[in-house]
Amino acid sequence: MMTKVVRVDRDRPNPDDIARAAECLRRGGLVAFPTETVYGLGVHALDRDAVRKLFDAKGRPATDPLIVHVAEFGQIALLVTALPEHAASLATRFWPGPLTLILPRAPSVPLEVTAGLQTVAIRIPAHPVARALLAAAAVPVAAPSANLFSRPSPTRAAHVVEDLDGRIDMVIDGGATDVGVESTVLDLTVSPPQMLRPGAITLEALRGVLPAVRVASSPRSANTPMRSPGLLARHYSPRVPMTLYQGPTDAARAALVTAARQAIAGGSRVGVVATSGDARLLDQIPVVIADLGPDDDAKGAAVRLYAALRELDAASVDIILAREAPHNDGLWHALRDRLRRAAAHVVAVD
Ligand code: TXA
Ligand code: MG
Repeated sequence: MMTKVVRVDRDRPNPDDIARAAECLRRGGLVAFPTETVYGLGVHALDRDAVRKLFDAKGRPATDPLIVHVAEFGQIALLVTALPEHAASLATRFWPGPLTLILPRAPSVPLEVTAGLQTVAIRIPAHPVARALLAAAAVPVAAPSANLFSRPSPTRAAHVVEDLDGRIDMVIDGGATDVGVESTVLDLTVSPPQMLRPGAITLEALRGVLPAVRVASSPRSANTPMRSPGLLARHYSPRVPMTLYQGPTDAARAALVTAARQAIAGGSRVGVVATSGDARLLDQIPVVIADLGPDDDAKGAAVRLYAALRELDAASVDIILAREAPHNDGLWHALRDRLRRAAAHVVAVD
């Protein structure tokens, strides 16, 4: 398959380009497009064959459900059996935007999309290109992040091409995405509602509308720090194994610097993902640094994170070291979560 890359203006995409991409979607094609979070790989959500093709193209297990993207709130009625309490007020406050709501699935949504679940994930994205495409397609579009399974999500069209060239029909290149990490996922089918994945719509913001929201606990959540080095299920990860150092700033920094020196002494090429404060400590050590920017700039770090992981892969380092995100409030919560998921090993120091 030849993958066609079409560059568009982020704010005023050419309507002919959008119409061709929308037609491709309606006919069951695979089209990658920018959203405000990361690039998505879209297919007609009600076309089972297209959905199966999408799982194949990504190498994604059929047990991992997809998010259905729509242009307008009105389209949701066909996709759900009921709107739970608060769904409308959350939608009014945060859509279009980087929030995904888990709602009760209507029979019209193929079980291929929801991985057999009786719930469906829905989002109205805010990116002008995504909005134009969804409006032109006029069908619900299932779209996971447009990366190969378990690779970091793509924040630029070049990342999509790196992973999926020859496996999909089209990439709409609308430049770098705005947020850099995937949408917040909020499950409204349980009581109290649970945040399944942190993102740019922060826990604090959700609680502003819905004070009862809980953070879903997972083996990797902030509530259950690993006390010893351990192996994690990898996700969003670079090809090169990444070790994450957790604990008080000075102790974690010292452990990371020691590990870097030891690895270099052993002949390894070392990559480090670090905010600028940490990067400075590594000045005198020959490591490849992917700088996430200032320690107090969560937005900048989120925009850079996935490109940084891909850069270190491309620099063919042997190992990657990183320190836990310096904070856990607001958008830092999402950065902590993604760094943990990207890590092959976690080392807790105290
Ligand atoms: O920002 C985003 O959400 C991007 C853009 C393209 O919209 N999409 C994205 O999709 O990150 P994906 O497939 O990489 O992640 C979807 C997440 C997964 O963690 C999946 O388990 C969860 O949403 N999810 C989907 N349907 C679900 C359901 N019915 N119940 C619980 N979780 C669900
Ligand atoms: Mg993904």
